[in-house]
Amino acid sequence: MRLADCHNFHDFRRLAKNRLPGPIFNYIDGGADDEVTLRRNSASFESCDLVPSVLRGVSDVDLSVTVMGQKIDLPVYLSPTALQRLFHHEGERATAAAAEKFGTMFGCSSLGTVSMEELAKKHRNPQVYQFYFHKDRGLNRAMMQKAKESGIKVMMLTVDSITGGNRERDLRTGFSIPFKLKPAGLAQFLMKPMWGINYVTHEKFSLPQLDAHIDMKGDTLTIGRYFTEMLDPSMNWDDVAAMVEEWGGQFCLKGVMSVADARRAADIGCTGIVLSNHGGRQLDGSRTGFDQLDEIVQAVGDRLDVMIDGGIQRGTHVLKALSLGAKAVGLGRFYLYALAAAGQPGIERALTQLKAELLRDMRLMGASKVADLNRDNLRFRGV
Ligand code: LAC
Repeated sequence: MRLADCHNFHDFRRLAKNRLPGPIFNYIDGGADDEVTLRRNSASFESCDLVPSVLRGVSDVDLSVTVMGQKIDLPVYLSPTALQRLFHHEGERATAAAAEKFGTMFGCSSLGTVSMEELAKKHRNPQVYQFYFHKDRGLNRAMMQKAKESGIKVMMLTVDSITGGNRERDLRTGFSIPFKLKPAGLAQFLMKPMWGINYVTHEKFSLPQLDAHIDMKGDTLTIGRYFTEMLDPSMNWDDVAAMVEEWGGQFCLKGVMSVADARRAADIGCTGIVLSNHGGRQLDGSRTGFDQLDEIVQAVGDRLDVMIDGGIQRGTHVLKALSLGAKAVGLGRFYLYALAAAGQPGIERALTQLKAELLRDMRLMGASKVADLNRDNLRFRGV
């Protein structure tokens, strides 16, 4: 199977699976506990159907949106995700460059493997900095400062990872950072020698956002232990209000799921929220962002930007979210499988296909701009 054989999300996933050592593929692919929420994320888009309008004159279609103060050419952005140079040696460099080609926003994670300042210097498209709130307040201050100095416009604080989700696939494979593998995991690495050659012949693995503050030499951490041991479970609304004030710009919370919390985010001055269950990787059995979207937009849509992520595999998923009032939609595994499959050309191919789907689906819906989509374009099953 080659890149030219990839025509949709599932094809990219399959190619990523072929290319990656099992422990790494399963780290991306897996969720918490029984992976119920992981599966629901995509399934939730099937709870409703699109109702198209016809004869609207749709020769020109404009997919651009403004979200968190940033005008982007597509209504999707590449969500911040961790450890990208493990998935492909180009890592975040490929993600940022592909996003720039498509005129959209990308995220740099606290657990990123390329520094936020390098990416900010190299690219003109908007960058989100994804912030994990650590017990080490010095580290928190330093990250905030670095993001400001780098000229990053959007701060995104993840609030659904106060402790590690139970990712049983990682427990079985022994996936941890840097690597320490159980013998079963090691055998899986040996089965993918190309990945191994690329990994050892490129820049050494590092976590530039954290390296100066966390000494991981001689120790390995599962992602669950990183969350549980290094992040601060005492984080509360007052801490976040102080951060919002210190940042003084676009600030969004990723992982808000209730109307009450959405209101509270607006009260403390957040300019956006991402309805998210962290790709089904944290609280299994939790609701999906899409299922919560309607009531949250109704409650706070006029006070801040509401975004969602989780389970996006198709252009029609994006259009359903936009119809309910999401300002933009975040992609995670969608571009990570493509990155793992083929680096920057992989992500570009996946985005080319998604853009073509969005243009086609907008025309079929009778919409020439994103603002033409609204709740009347959707009917929920059984309502
Ligand atoms: C995850 C974190 C690191 O593994 O975002 O889900």
